[in-house]
Parts: sequence; structure tokens; C-alpha cells
Amino acid sequence: MSSARSLMRSTAPFPMTKIQQQPQLIIRTKAVGELPRLVRKAGHQCVVITDSHLRSKANELSLEIKKAGLPCSLLTVPAGEKSKSLVVVEELCEALVKTGLGRDGVLVALGGGVIGDLAGFVASVYMRGIPFISVPTTVIAMADSSLGGKTGVDLASGKNLVGTFYPPMAILMDPTLLETLPDREFKAGCAEIIKHGVIHDERFFTFLEKNRESILARKPALILKMLKQSAKVKLTIVGEDPREALPARPNSTNRSRMLLNYGHTIGHALEKLSEYTLPHGEAVAIGMIEENRIAVKKGILTKDAATRISTLIENFGLPTKLPKEATMARMKKLIARDKKKVGSSIYFALPTGIGSADLFPYDLA
Ligand SMILES: NC(=O)c1ccc[n+]([C@@H]2O[C@H](COP(=O)([O-])OP(=O)(O)OC[C@H]3O[C@@H](n4cnc5c(N)ncnc54)[C@H](O)[C@@H]3O)[C@@H](O)[C@H]2O)c1
Ligand SMILES: [Zn+2]
Repeated sequence: MSSARSLMRSTAPFPMTKIQQQPQLIIRTKAVGELPRLVRKAGHQCVVITDSHLRSKANELSLEIKKAGLPCSLLTVPAGEKSKSLVVVEELCEALVKTGLGRDGVLVALGGGVIGDLAGFVASVYMRGIPFISVPTTVIAMADSSLGGKTGVDLASGKNLVGTFYPPMAILMDPTLLETLPDREFKAGCAEIIKHGVIHDERFFTFLEKNRESILARKPALILKMLKQSAKVKLTIVGEDPREALPARPNSTNRSRMLLNYGHTIGHALEKLSEYTLPHGEAVAIGMIEENRIAVKKGILTKDAATRISTLIENFGLPTKLPKEATMARMKKLIARDKKKVGSSIYFALPTGIGSADLFPYDLA
């Protein structure tokens, strides 16, 4: 463990000032090549957890770890959100015991947000917590779920209702892993990246406007630049409020992690309405456009800025229109169930311009 701790401290390319554990973040082409070295530093045995779509990549990586002289097993769960459940957590923990993994072991999460959330949660509770390394393979996981230390699984009553704050010891972001990602998943992840530009970084937003074609053509240099800047925004916001504990109230210098919720209050309601058939990033894209309407109505966002945001979302090939079934009455009902509700108010994170945002109460009563 002492070697893992010193590793956590060694390089932190982005500010994560108030997070207890500083994961080492490596963003570069062929970053996964670092995995055997990191695993060897962290433990004496390794288990890779992945999903059924990534099994052959996971096999390759476990062979590399074995070549480096460390026992390594592979556990695969079915691809998809259904695997984010307590039943699967129990199955994985039983399987880990069978591999002989002890407290000197390390878990590797290879996959999208589902695997990151699930394996991270397992790492946080198995034998009261063992180190894990996150290897995200979707844009959502690289831009969002692998950063910020949240793990979790779903209950029948709702998504992400059981979880922990448990940052990985290292995050390896390798854009070559995105080569096999279907186009729709790729674009959906870009919605979260656009969100980061809108709420925190106008220059980054302009970079996305200028380089949209090359990003969608997956030019490695542009993808790297985009991932690095996007991570910087997310980690800056998370570093100010790692446990989402700052009070939700409007404040011109707002540092609440809830700012990351822009597009998500309406986005989550749309996901629920579609019974989770609408991909998260697409729901967030529509959510950002609809929440902009509220911001324009409140007089906190200009019409021009709102148009610039919707144009970028549309140019990234993301949906912009509310589905017909999303009536006002249905949406209000779903929004009222949002787990980020405070008393009888929902706080919307709304842009106040391009590159800034704040929290505003919306009374549901
Ligand atoms: N912890 C957080 O802070 C946080 C933040 C955002 C989202 N999330 C969670 O993330 C999940 C969504 O993540 P996601 O969109 O990555 O979904 P996902 O993990 O289900 O991946 C989407 C699909 O792409 C496949 N896939 C993954 N990588 C691939 C690759 N490189 N090539 C080909 N196919 C690949 C997967 O098998 C899956 O079928 C949700 O459960 C959400 O709650 C968590
Ligand atoms: Zn999101």
C-alpha cells in the first residue's frame, strides 16, 4: 500500500486540491502500456473487470500484466446498465474470493461508465477497500465518470442510489481505446465535453467550435487536446467540492459540484421517460438546450449565447428536440423525483454566459 500512496502523490497534472486521494492521471496515446508497471507497484495480484463487448481487449491487457510477472484473472459481466446492480456486486465479490484476491490485490476497471462505476464500487467495499485502476473506454467515461471519485450501482427505485466516493489510484486515458467505439456513443460523450466548455471555459468552447470536424473524424491529436482540457475543467470543479457538500444557493462565485449538473435535471427526466433507451449524453444534449430556455426566460443568458450553444450541440450530431411524449406535466413529475432535490426546490445549474454558470432554485410546489 505504501507504494500505491506514493504513486498517488507522484504526478497530479490537474488540480484536485481537496480530494483526499490524488489519482495519478495519465492521458496519452498508448497510456494502457503503463498498466503492468502500475499494477505491479500497487499490489501482488490483479483482477481485471470488464464487460462482454471488451473481452478481447481485456484478455490482451491481462496477458501483458501476466508477462510482467503478476497473477491476473479476468471477470466479465454482460454489457449494459443492468450490470450496475447489487446482485452483480455480490457475484463479483464471490468471484474475487475464488481468485484468491486479498488486500494486497488490485482491481482494474476496463470499460465505459458502467464498468467504472461497478468495479469502483466493488473495489471500495471488497475487504473494506482495495486499490483500483480505471481504464475508461468510452468518451463518457473519459470525460466524466472516471473523474471525480463517484462509484455506484442502481436500485429498482432509481439510478446510482447506492454508491461511494472512492477515487481510483490511477486513471489511464488512452484515445486509441476509442477506435472501436460506435459513432453514436462517441457523439453522446461529446455532450458532456460541450457542457464543460459552457459552464467553465469559453476558450475551450471556442476550441470545440473550431475543431468539431477533426474531433468527429477522431483525429488523435485533437481528441487528446479535448480530453485534457475537459478533464481540467471537471477536476477543477470537483476539486472545489469533492463530496458535493457545498450548499446549493445562487452565488456569483459558485464553487458547487452541482454546477456539473447543467443539462442533467431535464436530461435525467428524459432518460427516465424513455425508460433508459435514450443514451445519457443525448438526453443531456436536449437537457442543455431546454435548460437554456429557462436561463433565457430568467434573463440570465442572452439569446445569442443560447443559440451558439444549440448550434454547437447540433453540429456535433446530437439531438436538440424534446421527444413528443415529454409533455410539461410529465416532465414536472419526473423532475420532482430528482435525487438532487433540496426541500421542495430543484436547483438548476444554468449558464450565465459561455464559460460561466450558477445554481438557481425552481419551485416545484
Ligand atoms: N460516476 C460518475 O460520476 C458518472 C458520471 C457519468 C456517468 N456515469 C455512469 O456511466 C454510465 C454510462 O457510461 P457509458 O456511456 O460509458 O456506458 P457503458 O459503460 O454502458 O458503455 C456503452 C456501450 O459501449 C460499449 N463500449 C465501451 N467501450 C467500448 C469501446 N472502446 N469499443 C466498443 N464498445 C465499447 C459498452 O460495452 C456498452 O455497450 C451510466 O451508468 C452512468 O450512470 C457515472
Ligand atoms: Zn452526465
